[in-house]
Amino acid sequence: MDRRQLPGLDREVSALGAGCWTIGGLATNRGVPIGWAGVDEDEAFAGLVRAHDLGVTLFDTADVYGLGRSERLLGRLLQQVNRSPLVISSKVGYFAGTAIHPYAAGQVRRQLLTSLSNLGTDYLDLYFLHASDFGPDGRYLDEAVETIHRLRREGLIRAVGMRAPHEFAVEWATDPHHPQAIDSARFLTLFERIKPDVLTARYNLLSPLYGPDETDIFSFAHHHQVGLLLKQVLGQGLLIGARSPSSPLAFPTGDHRQGGSLFTRPMLRAIHDGLATLSQRFGDSRADLTRIAVRYALQRDPDAAVLLGFRNARQIGSNLTCLGEPLSSDDIGAIQLAMSSVRDMLTASRPVNPNSPQEHSA
Ligand SMILES: NC(=O)c1ccc[n+]([C@@H]2O[C@H](COP(=O)([O-])OP(=O)(O)OC[C@H]3O[C@@H](n4cnc5c(N)ncnc54)[C@H](OP(=O)(O)O)[C@@H]3O)[C@@H](O)[C@H]2O)c1
Repeated sequence: MDRRQLPGLDREVSALGAGCWTIGGLATNRGVPIGWAGVDEDEAFAGLVRAHDLGVTLFDTADVYGLGRSERLLGRLLQQVNRSPLVISSKVGYFAGTAIHPYAAGQVRRQLLTSLSNLGTDYLDLYFLHASDFGPDGRYLDEAVETIHRLRREGLIRAVGMRAPHEFAVEWATDPHHPQAIDSARFLTLFERIKPDVLTARYNLLSPLYGPDETDIFSFAHHHQVGLLLKQVLGQGLLIGARSPSSPLAFPTGDHRQGGSLFTRPMLRAIHDGLATLSQRFGDSRADLTRIAVRYALQRDPDAAVLLGFRNARQIGSNLTCLGEPLSSDDIGAIQLAMSSVRDMLTASRPVNPNSPQEHSA
Protein backbone atom coordinates (compact mmCIF):
# COMPACT_ATOMS: atom_id res chain seq x y z
CA MET A 1 0.00 0.00 0.00
CA ASP A 2 1.44 3.39 -1.03
CA ARG A 3 1.77 5.91 1.73
CA ARG A 4 1.40 9.66 1.65
CA GLN A 5 2.44 12.50 3.88
CA LEU A 6 -0.45 14.93 3.86
CA PRO A 7 0.32 18.48 4.93
CA GLY A 8 -1.46 19.04 8.23
CA LEU A 9 -1.07 15.48 9.54
CA ASP A 10 1.76 14.49 11.83
CA ARG A 11 2.39 11.12 10.18
CA GLU A 12 2.06 9.32 6.89
CA VAL A 13 -1.18 7.61 5.95
CA SER A 14 -2.00 4.88 3.49
CA ALA A 15 -2.91 6.52 0.18
CA LEU A 16 -6.22 4.66 0.34
CA GLY A 17 -8.30 5.03 3.47
CA ALA A 18 -11.37 3.19 4.73
CA GLY A 19 -14.47 5.40 4.62
CA CYS A 20 -16.72 4.20 7.42
CA TRP A 21 -19.96 6.06 6.71
CA THR A 22 -21.34 3.10 4.80
CA ILE A 23 -20.74 0.58 7.58
CA GLY A 24 -22.88 2.59 9.99
CA GLY A 25 -25.96 1.18 8.24
CA LEU A 26 -29.37 2.82 8.39
CA ALA A 27 -29.92 6.09 10.27
CA THR A 28 -31.91 9.30 10.12
CA ASN A 29 -30.86 12.76 11.26
CA ARG A 30 -33.49 15.50 11.61
CA GLY A 31 -35.85 13.05 9.93
CA VAL A 32 -33.66 12.78 6.82
CA PRO A 33 -32.32 9.36 5.78
CA ILE A 34 -28.54 9.47 6.07
CA GLY A 35 -27.65 5.79 6.10
CA TRP A 36 -27.08 2.75 3.97
CA ALA A 37 -29.56 -0.14 3.89
CA GLY A 38 -28.78 -3.81 4.33
CA VAL A 39 -25.47 -3.46 6.14
CA ASP A 40 -24.56 -6.50 8.24
CA GLU A 41 -22.44 -5.59 11.27
CA ASP A 42 -20.31 -8.72 11.21
CA GLU A 43 -19.64 -8.35 7.50
CA ALA A 44 -18.83 -4.68 7.97
CA PHE A 45 -16.43 -5.52 10.78
CA ALA A 46 -14.77 -8.16 8.57
CA GLY A 47 -14.29 -5.36 6.03
CA LEU A 48 -12.48 -3.23 8.60
CA VAL A 49 -10.20 -6.15 9.47
CA ARG A 50 -9.51 -6.80 5.80
CA ALA A 51 -8.66 -3.13 5.21
CA HIS A 52 -6.25 -3.17 8.13
CA ASP A 53 -4.68 -6.43 6.96
CA LEU A 54 -4.12 -4.91 3.52
CA GLY A 55 -2.19 -1.98 5.01
CA VAL A 56 -4.86 0.71 5.42
CA THR A 57 -3.85 3.08 8.21
CA LEU A 58 -6.45 5.82 7.61
CA PHE A 59 -9.99 5.28 8.92
CA ASP A 60 -12.63 7.99 8.53
CA THR A 61 -15.81 7.95 10.59
CA ALA A 62 -18.24 10.44 12.19
CA ASP A 63 -20.55 10.67 15.19
CA VAL A 64 -23.49 10.73 12.80
CA TYR A 65 -22.58 7.64 10.75
CA GLY A 66 -25.10 5.10 12.01
CA LEU A 67 -25.52 7.41 15.04
CA GLY A 68 -22.43 5.92 16.71
CA ARG A 69 -22.53 2.42 15.17
CA SER A 70 -19.72 3.19 12.73
CA GLU A 71 -17.49 4.56 15.51
CA ARG A 72 -18.24 1.57 17.73
CA LEU A 73 -17.41 -0.92 14.96
CA LEU A 74 -14.13 0.89 14.37
CA GLY A 75 -13.57 0.79 18.13
CA ARG A 76 -13.80 -3.01 17.96
CA LEU A 77 -10.97 -2.99 15.45
CA LEU A 78 -8.87 -0.64 17.60
CA GLN A 79 -9.15 -3.09 20.48
CA GLN A 80 -7.39 -5.79 18.50
CA VAL A 81 -4.73 -3.90 16.53
CA ASN A 82 -1.90 -1.50 17.31
CA ARG A 83 -3.55 1.93 17.55
CA SER A 84 -0.47 4.11 17.32
CA PRO A 85 0.37 3.89 13.57
CA LEU A 86 -3.26 4.55 12.62
CA VAL A 87 -4.87 7.86 11.69
CA ILE A 88 -8.42 7.93 13.02
CA SER A 89 -10.67 10.72 11.84
CA SER A 90 -14.13 11.56 13.18
CA LYS A 91 -16.51 14.48 12.93
CA VAL A 92 -18.89 16.68 14.88
CA GLY A 93 -21.56 19.20 14.00
CA TYR A 94 -24.08 17.43 11.86
CA PHE A 95 -25.56 14.93 14.31
CA ALA A 96 -28.71 16.44 15.81
CA GLY A 97 -29.12 13.94 18.61
CA THR A 98 -29.68 16.39 21.42
CA ALA A 99 -32.13 19.18 22.08
CA ILE A 100 -29.49 21.83 21.46
CA HIS A 101 -27.52 22.79 18.38
CA PRO A 102 -24.55 20.46 17.69
CA TYR A 103 -22.18 23.43 18.00
CA ALA A 104 -23.87 25.00 21.04
CA ALA A 105 -21.74 25.69 24.10
CA GLY A 106 -20.09 22.56 25.43
CA GLN A 107 -21.49 20.29 22.74
CA VAL A 108 -18.31 19.86 20.70
CA ARG A 109 -16.34 18.71 23.75
CA ARG A 110 -19.17 16.46 24.97
CA GLN A 111 -19.55 14.88 21.54
CA LEU A 112 -15.81 14.35 21.24
CA LEU A 113 -15.81 12.50 24.56
CA THR A 114 -18.64 10.30 23.27
CA SER A 115 -16.73 9.61 20.07
CA LEU A 116 -13.58 8.73 22.02
CA SER A 117 -15.62 6.41 24.18
CA ASN A 118 -17.25 4.77 21.12
CA LEU A 119 -13.82 4.30 19.58
CA GLY A 120 -12.12 3.18 22.79
CA THR A 121 -9.23 5.57 22.24
CA ASP A 122 -8.03 8.64 24.12
CA TYR A 123 -7.28 10.86 21.11
CA LEU A 124 -8.30 11.45 17.52
CA ASP A 125 -5.74 12.16 14.83
CA LEU A 126 -8.18 14.33 12.93
CA TYR A 127 -11.45 15.94 13.99
CA PHE A 128 -13.74 17.60 11.46
CA LEU A 129 -16.23 20.37 11.90
CA HIS A 130 -18.66 18.42 9.76
CA ALA A 131 -21.37 20.98 9.04
CA SER A 132 -21.18 24.62 8.05
CA ASP A 133 -24.40 25.54 9.87
CA PHE A 134 -23.18 27.33 12.97
CA GLY A 135 -26.64 28.35 14.17
CA PRO A 136 -28.71 31.47 13.58
CA ASP A 137 -26.38 34.29 12.45
CA GLY A 138 -23.46 31.91 13.00
CA ARG A 139 -23.78 32.41 16.75
CA TYR A 140 -21.94 29.17 17.65
CA LEU A 141 -19.03 29.61 15.26
CA ASP A 142 -16.64 31.32 17.68
CA GLU A 143 -17.31 28.80 20.43
CA ALA A 144 -16.89 25.83 18.06
CA VAL A 145 -13.63 27.15 16.63
CA GLU A 146 -12.20 28.03 20.03
CA THR A 147 -13.19 24.66 21.43
CA ILE A 148 -11.72 22.61 18.62
CA HIS A 149 -8.37 24.41 18.85
CA ARG A 150 -8.40 24.04 22.64
CA LEU A 151 -9.02 20.29 22.24
CA ARG A 152 -6.01 20.23 19.97
CA ARG A 153 -3.80 22.01 22.50
CA GLU A 154 -4.99 19.52 25.14
CA GLY A 155 -3.90 16.61 22.90
CA LEU A 156 -7.40 15.14 22.58
CA ILE A 157 -7.23 15.75 18.85
CA ARG A 158 -4.15 16.19 16.69
CA ALA A 159 -5.48 18.02 13.65
CA VAL A 160 -8.57 19.99 12.64
CA GLY A 161 -10.58 19.30 9.52
CA MET A 162 -13.35 21.00 7.58
CA ARG A 163 -15.37 20.25 4.50
CA ALA A 164 -14.86 22.00 1.16
CA PRO A 165 -17.73 22.61 -1.27
CA HIS A 166 -18.15 19.99 -4.00
CA GLU A 167 -17.53 22.61 -6.65
CA PHE A 168 -15.27 25.50 -5.82
CA ALA A 169 -12.86 28.04 -7.21
CA VAL A 170 -11.50 31.02 -5.32
CA GLU A 171 -12.43 33.36 -8.18
CA TRP A 172 -16.11 32.35 -8.09
CA ALA A 173 -16.49 33.89 -4.64
CA THR A 174 -16.19 37.40 -6.07
CA ASP A 175 -18.22 36.76 -9.22
CA PRO A 176 -21.80 37.67 -8.28
CA HIS A 177 -23.13 35.91 -11.38
CA HIS A 178 -21.54 32.58 -10.62
CA PRO A 179 -24.04 30.01 -9.30
CA GLN A 180 -21.52 28.83 -6.69
CA ALA A 181 -20.54 32.35 -5.58
CA ILE A 182 -22.27 32.19 -2.20
CA ASP A 183 -20.96 28.74 -1.28
CA SER A 184 -17.43 29.63 -2.42
CA ALA A 185 -17.39 32.88 -0.45
CA ARG A 186 -18.77 31.18 2.64
CA PHE A 187 -16.14 28.47 2.45
CA LEU A 188 -13.36 31.06 2.20
CA THR A 189 -14.71 32.93 5.22
CA LEU A 190 -15.00 29.75 7.29
CA PHE A 191 -11.58 28.54 6.18
CA GLU A 192 -9.98 31.78 7.44
CA ARG A 193 -11.83 31.46 10.71
CA ILE A 194 -11.39 27.73 11.36
CA LYS A 195 -7.81 27.45 10.08
CA PRO A 196 -8.06 23.71 9.40
CA ASP A 197 -5.13 21.37 8.79
CA VAL A 198 -7.03 19.11 6.40
CA LEU A 199 -9.96 19.53 4.02
CA THR A 200 -12.32 16.91 2.65
CA ALA A 201 -13.69 17.25 -0.87
CA ARG A 202 -15.69 15.17 -3.29
CA TYR A 203 -13.63 14.15 -6.30
CA ASN A 204 -14.44 11.57 -8.94
CA LEU A 205 -14.81 10.97 -12.69
CA LEU A 206 -17.74 13.39 -12.75
CA SER A 207 -16.01 16.29 -11.01
CA PRO A 208 -15.85 19.54 -12.97
CA LEU A 209 -12.71 20.45 -14.87
CA TYR A 210 -11.32 23.88 -14.07
CA GLY A 211 -9.76 26.48 -16.35
CA PRO A 212 -6.24 27.87 -15.98
CA ASP A 213 -7.63 31.04 -14.38
CA GLU A 214 -9.53 29.13 -11.71
CA THR A 215 -8.00 28.21 -8.36
CA ASP A 216 -9.66 24.90 -7.57
CA ILE A 217 -9.59 23.10 -4.24
CA PHE A 218 -6.33 21.29 -5.06
CA SER A 219 -4.42 24.52 -5.86
CA PHE A 220 -6.05 26.17 -2.87
CA ALA A 221 -4.98 23.35 -0.53
CA HIS A 222 -1.41 23.47 -1.86
CA HIS A 223 -1.25 27.21 -1.44
CA HIS A 224 -2.40 26.94 2.18
CA GLN A 225 -0.40 23.79 2.91
CA VAL A 226 -3.39 21.76 4.07
CA GLY A 227 -4.02 18.08 3.33
CA LEU A 228 -6.99 16.74 1.36
CA LEU A 229 -9.18 13.69 1.85
CA LEU A 230 -11.09 12.78 -1.31
CA LYS A 231 -14.51 11.18 -1.00
CA GLN A 232 -17.22 9.72 -3.22
CA VAL A 233 -14.51 8.46 -5.53
CA LEU A 234 -16.66 5.46 -6.52
CA GLY A 235 -19.74 7.65 -6.95
CA GLN A 236 -21.34 5.56 -4.21
CA GLY A 237 -21.16 2.54 -6.50
CA LEU A 238 -22.31 4.27 -9.70
CA LEU A 239 -18.89 4.81 -11.23
CA ILE A 240 -17.86 1.18 -10.97
CA GLY A 241 -20.92 -0.17 -12.73
CA ALA A 242 -22.70 -1.30 -9.59
CA ARG A 243 -26.00 0.19 -10.82
CA SER A 244 -27.06 -0.24 -14.41
CA PRO A 245 -29.95 1.64 -16.05
CA SER A 246 -31.77 -1.63 -16.58
CA SER A 247 -31.60 -2.73 -12.94
CA PRO A 248 -34.31 -1.57 -10.57
CA LEU A 249 -33.56 1.96 -9.44
CA ALA A 250 -35.10 1.63 -6.04
CA PHE A 251 -32.81 1.31 -3.07
CA PRO A 252 -34.14 -0.48 0.00
CA THR A 253 -36.25 1.69 2.28
CA GLY A 254 -34.21 4.19 4.23
CA ASP A 255 -31.10 4.11 2.04
CA HIS A 256 -30.02 7.73 1.62
CA ARG A 257 -29.40 7.20 -2.09
CA GLN A 258 -33.15 6.78 -2.69
CA GLY A 259 -34.14 9.80 -4.75
CA GLY A 260 -30.55 11.05 -5.08
CA SER A 261 -29.92 13.34 -8.04
CA LEU A 262 -27.44 10.94 -9.65
CA PHE A 263 -29.61 7.89 -9.25
CA THR A 264 -32.17 8.81 -11.89
CA ARG A 265 -32.69 6.76 -15.02
CA PRO A 266 -31.38 9.43 -17.47
CA MET A 267 -28.30 9.97 -15.33
CA LEU A 268 -27.70 6.22 -15.00
CA ARG A 269 -28.07 5.88 -18.77
CA ALA A 270 -25.50 8.65 -19.39
CA ILE A 271 -23.07 7.19 -16.86
CA HIS A 272 -23.58 3.73 -18.33
CA ASP A 273 -22.70 5.06 -21.80
CA GLY A 274 -19.61 6.82 -20.44
CA LEU A 275 -18.47 3.67 -18.64
CA ALA A 276 -19.11 1.61 -21.80
CA THR A 277 -16.66 3.87 -23.67
CA LEU A 278 -14.13 3.49 -20.87
CA SER A 279 -14.60 -0.30 -20.89
CA GLN A 280 -13.46 -0.46 -24.51
CA ARG A 281 -10.13 1.04 -23.53
CA PHE A 282 -9.60 -0.31 -20.02
CA GLY A 283 -11.65 -3.52 -19.75
CA ASP A 284 -15.19 -4.09 -18.57
CA SER A 285 -14.91 -5.93 -15.28
CA ARG A 286 -15.84 -4.31 -11.95
CA ALA A 287 -12.14 -4.39 -11.05
CA ASP A 288 -11.20 -2.59 -14.29
CA LEU A 289 -13.71 0.19 -13.61
CA THR A 290 -12.69 0.44 -9.96
CA ARG A 291 -9.04 0.78 -11.00
CA ILE A 292 -9.94 3.73 -13.22
CA ALA A 293 -12.09 5.44 -10.58
CA VAL A 294 -9.52 5.03 -7.81
CA ARG A 295 -6.45 5.80 -9.91
CA TYR A 296 -8.14 8.91 -11.35
CA ALA A 297 -8.49 10.31 -7.84
CA LEU A 298 -5.16 9.03 -6.50
CA GLN A 299 -3.19 10.55 -9.34
CA ARG A 300 -4.86 13.94 -9.07
CA ASP A 301 -2.74 15.08 -6.15
CA PRO A 302 0.09 13.46 -4.17
CA ASP A 303 -0.92 15.53 -1.13
CA ALA A 304 -4.35 13.87 -0.98
CA ALA A 305 -5.57 10.52 0.32
CA VAL A 306 -8.59 8.71 -1.10
CA LEU A 307 -11.42 7.37 1.07
CA LEU A 308 -13.23 4.28 -0.16
CA GLY A 309 -16.62 3.28 1.19
CA PHE A 310 -17.49 -0.41 1.58
CA ARG A 311 -19.99 -2.68 3.27
CA ASN A 312 -18.00 -5.91 3.54
CA ALA A 313 -14.57 -7.52 3.15
CA ARG A 314 -15.20 -8.48 -0.45
CA GLN A 315 -15.81 -4.89 -1.55
CA ILE A 316 -12.92 -3.29 0.30
CA GLY A 317 -10.61 -6.20 -0.54
CA SER A 318 -11.22 -5.94 -4.27
CA ASN A 319 -11.12 -2.14 -4.23
CA LEU A 320 -7.74 -2.10 -2.53
CA THR A 321 -6.15 -4.70 -4.75
CA CYS A 322 -7.25 -3.71 -8.25
CA LEU A 323 -5.01 -0.70 -8.79
CA GLY A 324 -2.69 -2.14 -11.43
CA GLU A 325 -0.53 0.25 -13.43
CA PRO A 326 -0.85 4.05 -13.10
CA LEU A 327 -2.96 5.85 -15.69
CA SER A 328 -1.06 7.73 -18.40
CA SER A 329 -1.91 11.34 -19.25
CA ASP A 330 -3.56 10.03 -22.43
CA ASP A 331 -5.68 7.70 -20.28
CA ILE A 332 -6.75 10.60 -18.10
CA GLY A 333 -7.67 12.67 -21.17
CA ALA A 334 -9.70 9.74 -22.53
CA ILE A 335 -11.53 9.38 -19.20
CA GLN A 336 -12.40 13.07 -19.11
CA LEU A 337 -13.67 12.94 -22.67
CA ALA A 338 -15.76 9.81 -22.08
CA MET A 339 -17.48 11.37 -19.08
CA SER A 340 -17.90 14.89 -20.53
CA SER A 341 -21.57 14.57 -21.44
CA VAL A 342 -22.41 13.26 -17.95
CA ARG A 343 -20.51 16.15 -16.40
CA ASP A 344 -22.48 18.58 -18.56
CA MET A 345 -25.80 16.93 -17.61
CA LEU A 346 -24.86 17.12 -13.99
CA THR A 347 -23.98 20.79 -14.12
CA ALA A 348 -27.17 21.60 -16.00
CA SER A 349 -29.38 19.64 -13.61
CA ARG A 350 -27.90 20.78 -10.33
CA PRO A 351 -30.25 22.97 -8.30
CA VAL A 352 -28.53 25.98 -6.79
CA ASN A 353 -29.53 25.88 -3.17
CA PRO A 354 -26.92 27.12 -0.74
CA ASN A 355 -28.84 25.64 2.18
CA SER A 356 -29.02 22.09 0.83
CA PRO A 357 -27.17 19.49 2.94
CA GLN A 358 -24.33 18.61 0.56
CA GLU A 359 -23.21 15.68 2.69
CA HIS A 360 -25.98 13.46 1.55
CA SER A 361 -26.59 14.40 -2.03
CA ALA A 362 -25.04 11.94 -4.42
N1 LIG B 1 -20.04 11.27 0.39
C1 LIG B 1 -19.88 12.22 1.28
O1 LIG B 1 -20.53 13.27 1.22
C2 LIG B 1 -18.88 12.06 2.40
C3 LIG B 1 -18.74 13.08 3.29
C4 LIG B 1 -17.78 13.00 4.26
C5 LIG B 1 -16.98 11.90 4.33
N2 LIG B 1 -17.14 10.89 3.47
C6 LIG B 1 -16.27 9.73 3.61
O2 LIG B 1 -16.02 9.13 2.38
C7 LIG B 1 -16.28 7.73 2.52
C8 LIG B 1 -16.62 7.11 1.22
O3 LIG B 1 -18.03 7.15 1.00
P1 LIG B 1 -18.65 7.75 -0.23
O4 LIG B 1 -19.96 8.35 0.00
O5 LIG B 1 -17.61 8.62 -0.76
O6 LIG B 1 -18.92 6.44 -1.14
P2 LIG B 1 -18.02 5.70 -2.25
O7 LIG B 1 -16.72 5.31 -1.67
O8 LIG B 1 -18.03 6.48 -3.50
O9 LIG B 1 -18.95 4.41 -2.48
C9 LIG B 1 -19.10 3.42 -1.51
C10 LIG B 1 -20.19 2.45 -1.95
O10 LIG B 1 -19.91 1.93 -3.25
C11 LIG B 1 -20.36 0.59 -3.32
N3 LIG B 1 -19.18 -0.26 -3.57
C12 LIG B 1 -17.92 -0.10 -3.07
N4 LIG B 1 -17.12 -1.07 -3.52
C13 LIG B 1 -17.87 -1.89 -4.28
C14 LIG B 1 -17.60 -3.07 -5.02
N5 LIG B 1 -16.37 -3.61 -5.05
N6 LIG B 1 -18.62 -3.62 -5.72
C15 LIG B 1 -19.87 -3.07 -5.70
N7 LIG B 1 -20.16 -1.96 -5.02
C16 LIG B 1 -19.18 -1.37 -4.32
C17 LIG B 1 -20.98 0.23 -1.99
O11 LIG B 1 -22.36 0.53 -2.04
P3 LIG B 1 -23.55 -0.56 -1.90
O12 LIG B 1 -22.96 -1.92 -1.74
O13 LIG B 1 -24.33 -0.09 -0.75
O14 LIG B 1 -24.33 -0.37 -3.18
C18 LIG B 1 -20.27 1.21 -1.07
O15 LIG B 1 -20.98 1.45 0.10
C19 LIG B 1 -17.40 7.67 3.55
O16 LIG B 1 -17.52 6.40 4.11
C20 LIG B 1 -16.92 8.69 4.52
O17 LIG B 1 -15.93 8.13 5.36
C21 LIG B 1 -18.08 10.94 2.50
